[in-house]
Amino acid sequence: MTEPTEYSFIRYLEAKRTVDDRALNQQVWRRLLDELQVLPRERSLQVMEVGAGIGTMLQRTLEWGFDRDMDYIAVDSDPLLLAVAAERLPAWARGLGWQIEQPHEGKLVLSGPRQSVMLEFVSQDIFEIPERPGGFFDLIIAHAFLDLVELKTALPHLLSLTRPDGLFYFTLMFDGVTILRPPIDPDFDSLIEARYHRTMDERIVRGRPSGHSQTGRMLLETLSARKASILAAGGSDWVVNPPYPADEAYFLHHILHFIENALKDSPDLDLHRLEHWIRSRHLQVEEGRLIYIAHQLDVLGHP
Ligand SMILES: C[S@@+](CC[C@H](N)C(=O)[O-])C[C@H]1O[C@@H](n2cnc3c(N)ncnc32)[C@H](O)[C@@H]1O
Repeated sequence: MTEPTEYSFIRYLEAKRTVDDRALNQQVWRRLLDELQVLPRERSLQVMEVGAGIGTMLQRTLEWGFDRDMDYIAVDSDPLLLAVAAERLPAWARGLGWQIEQPHEGKLVLSGPRQSVMLEFVSQDIFEIPERPGGFFDLIIAHAFLDLVELKTALPHLLSLTRPDGLFYFTLMFDGVTILRPPIDPDFDSLIEARYHRTMDERIVRGRPSGHSQTGRMLLETLSARKASILAAGGSDWVVNPPYPADEAYFLHHILHFIENALKDSPDLDLHRLEHWIRSRHLQVEEGRLIYIAHQLDVLGHP
């Protein structure tokens, strides 16, 4: 696939789905399914997913074995993404033979052979979600999200919303390694990796520090310090290599676009050299030669 002339974050999230499917840690996932069996069955499971995007994680939970009735709140600060989720999920569920109802604007009921899901879309910044004393949710999911917010404020807030016997399932948290092969110029390759990670560490969004390039390991340390109970943890590295399946060539072009955008105003980088480096990487995708690995972690536990 040639280098796109336009980039779409929605297409990126769709293209990411197959990459994430391969990456998610199966040992952590199976433990989550086991733990869900232990939670009370006489009522619907209360689930909140933060940074839900276009809803691919909800699809995954249902396709990969969640068999419970659920009230599932999908929170995202971007209303456009939730509108896309509200459009695509009914079409997907209908394809599985499920019934769809829309009781109110912003709500959907998906009814399948084994369960029913009351889905609500909430466009909100996670820091604006009101506290719920004693916790409320049986399960909080944050997928490809925690490395975009400030852990030291986001984590206590999310855990305070979770019941003490409830679960958190935090997945695909970036953890400090980006590998692009084959090399172009090993010294410059390393410099770009370091500078790209530094932009994650220094990012400010809406006046707040937002994210860190070592979120995975920082989360494990913070949970231990808080005496949270970690039930399972493991690697969930993205590994994309040729031949690229599905829309993964686009996914790679978009990753290079992220890197270019993050670095294009760096005062201490040779910007002509950066431009050449980015074009060479796009060419590697076009030629089906680029290999991309990003180290990430998944963690399941009780708050
Ligand atoms: C990398 S995307 C992941 C989306 C989805 N989880 C997926 O993997 O397809 C991160 C999402 O978090 C949302 N987001 C970022 N900061 C947020 C915040 N403070 N509160 C709520 N959502 C936020 C973005 O709008 C985006 O949809």
